[in-house]
Amino acid sequence: MKKVEIILRPGMLEVLRDALAKLDLHGMNYTDIRGYGRQHGHTEVYRGAIYQIDFLPKVKIEIVLDDEQVESVINTVVSTVRTGKVGDGKIFVSEVVDAIRIRTGERGSQAI
Ligand SMILES: Nc1ncnc2c1ncn2[C@@H]1O[C@H](COP(=O)(O)OP(=O)(O)OP(=O)(O)O)[C@@H](O)[C@H]1O
Ligand SMILES: [Mg+2]
Repeated sequence: MKKVEIILRPGMLEVLRDALAKLDLHGMNYTDIRGYGRQHGHTEVYRGAIYQIDFLPKVKIEIVLDDEQVESVINTVVSTVRTGKVGDGKIFVSEVVDAIRIRTGERGSQAI
């Protein structure tokens, strides 16, 4: 199992949710966050406003999924949210050691 964390512009959340809904994913979360990337200390445009501050509004989606689903999620994200401008976001992939469905006690990929 893997966890995919996708950090994207807030305005891309709905279109990405719709694109991800076409994949056979069983659950996900999103959180409103603030962050910065390589342009730390420089300006980045967000909704027409130029931010001089370090932290910009972003959305983070987290999905725990089977290993073989990771590439299709990455491809969907990149083809859906890429504008080619700075601040398009990032995808981080990490190992998930275990998962437990509390209702049934199922473990591992049975639980996701
Ligand atoms: N190394 C990192 N660790 C954790 N979060 C990061 C990292 N890099 C970027 N982020 C998060 O992703 C968001 C978007 O990053 P961003 O797309 O600006 O990355 P970048 O490396 O600066 O690429 P670009 O040059 O295309 O802007 C940041 O606001 C931050 O929330
Ligand atoms: Mg950046």
